[in-house]
Amino acid sequence: MPNTILVGAQWGDEGKGKIIDFLTDEAQIVVRSQGGNNAGHTIVIGGDKYVLHLIPSGILRKSKICVIGNGVVLDPVSLVGEIEGLRNRGVKVEKNLLISDAAHLVLPYHRALDEQREVLKGRNKIGTTKRGIGPAYADKASRTGLRTVDMLRADVFEEKLARRIKENNTILKSLGAKPLNAKKIIADQLAAAEVLRPFITNTAVYLHRALAAKKSMLFEGAQGTFLDIDHGTYPFVTSSNTTAGGACTGSGVPPHRIDTVLGVMKAYTTRVGEGPFATEDDSLGEMFHGMGREFGATTGRARRCGWFDAVSTRYSALLNGIDEIAITNLDGLDGLATIRVCVAYKLDGKTIDFPPTDSADLARCEPVYMEMPGWKTSTEKARKFTELPPKARDYVKKIAELTGTKLSIVSIGPARAQTIRL
Ligand code: GDP
Ligand code: IMO
Ligand code: MG
Repeated sequence: MPNTILVGAQWGDEGKGKIIDFLTDEAQIVVRSQGGNNAGHTIVIGGDKYVLHLIPSGILRKSKICVIGNGVVLDPVSLVGEIEGLRNRGVKVEKNLLISDAAHLVLPYHRALDEQREVLKGRNKIGTTKRGIGPAYADKASRTGLRTVDMLRADVFEEKLARRIKENNTILKSLGAKPLNAKKIIADQLAAAEVLRPFITNTAVYLHRALAAKKSMLFEGAQGTFLDIDHGTYPFVTSSNTTAGGACTGSGVPPHRIDTVLGVMKAYTTRVGEGPFATEDDSLGEMFHGMGREFGATTGRARRCGWFDAVSTRYSALLNGIDEIAITNLDGLDGLATIRVCVAYKLDGKTIDFPPTDSADLARCEPVYMEMPGWKTSTEKARKFTELPPKARDYVKKIAELTGTKLSIVSIGPARAQTIRL
């Protein structure tokens, strides 16, 4: 299998976890290179559901190596909980997990700051996952962050942590929040460091040795293109580079060692949190929520829903260099008589074919739709492309055509078997 970067081409929750799990059969190493436990990647195996937040989705396949790269921000206590949760379900988490020694830590004061800043923003809030992601990346950029390498020596870690808790308690108080209990944080973090220490190593060195040994790698993107700190709907974004380039900076694997970029897109669009969403349609949301789908895997929030947006996904294909696409959740549209696809935006009377940079402008864009006939049959049991109804085939082919990409996977249910490879 070629070294592949898998990216979310929309606003996250495209079904990346499911596709990673499917593809890991062929790859040897799965790498997370950005984001933190704001991610929630769902994998369904034989009726058992797993939601992974920090650990790469390859962990459920025996004999695969999972790497948490330097670009990830890692909440130690949460990661220990995730490891224990998997072990309790009989999943092996031992030498098959490697954690970069250069990954930054998400600490309780980051969570507290994330929450308090959202409260203070009021109506203008971002709608974050409140996992402390933004403040942790801010510390990284400000060069005041703590890293996994700091956890390797308990005395050094304790000293640095105590200093940062003190500094952040001053900030929290100034923002009107309660200061945190330093003693408890230090005890919790030292305990987490004990558990995580055996996993921590220089993963860039590991990955380069693996490249030399011709092992194949799958880079598991978290979030999605329009949550990217540079290319997304700023400020309604996350704080990392969710686009393909983030896989290289966040792992130490150079761009020329990447063979292909696979974009994952839902057959419609969803978004959690605030921010512009041109094709949002409340009645579509009601339909999906009524079917029990489109609730967040991390926060449980109902996702906002809308029609497939070919304007933004075409731009996403450019930004990421998407070679191939996986279209997921096609079955979600099974019951519809007519399906809409946004092919252009109208802004101030002009037709535009790419999303404007200013989120306020994007919020004013009117979608221009084309309509396609629905297939009104269940697709869930299809196992070959030819087993899909002709109108469903036309629909996914149209998406590939409009986005200028090659269709390589269609997903028609959450389970591994409900995946069609073209
Ligand atoms: P991720 O963050 O991109 O990994 O996606 P999430 O796991 O947050 O959300 C995707 C949801 O859709 C999960 O509940 C998956 O089990 C589910 N899912 C993925 N692909 C399909 C599909 O083709 N059909 C259906 N019905 N569900 C799917
Ligand atoms: P996966 O990997 C969907 C959204 C939040 C919010 C914004 C900023 O499962 O696709 P943050 O906590 O990162 O500061 O929140 O980003 N968000 C996601 N939305 N899927 C995700 O991850 C997300 N991770 C963050 O809802 O709008
Ligand atoms: Mg998710």
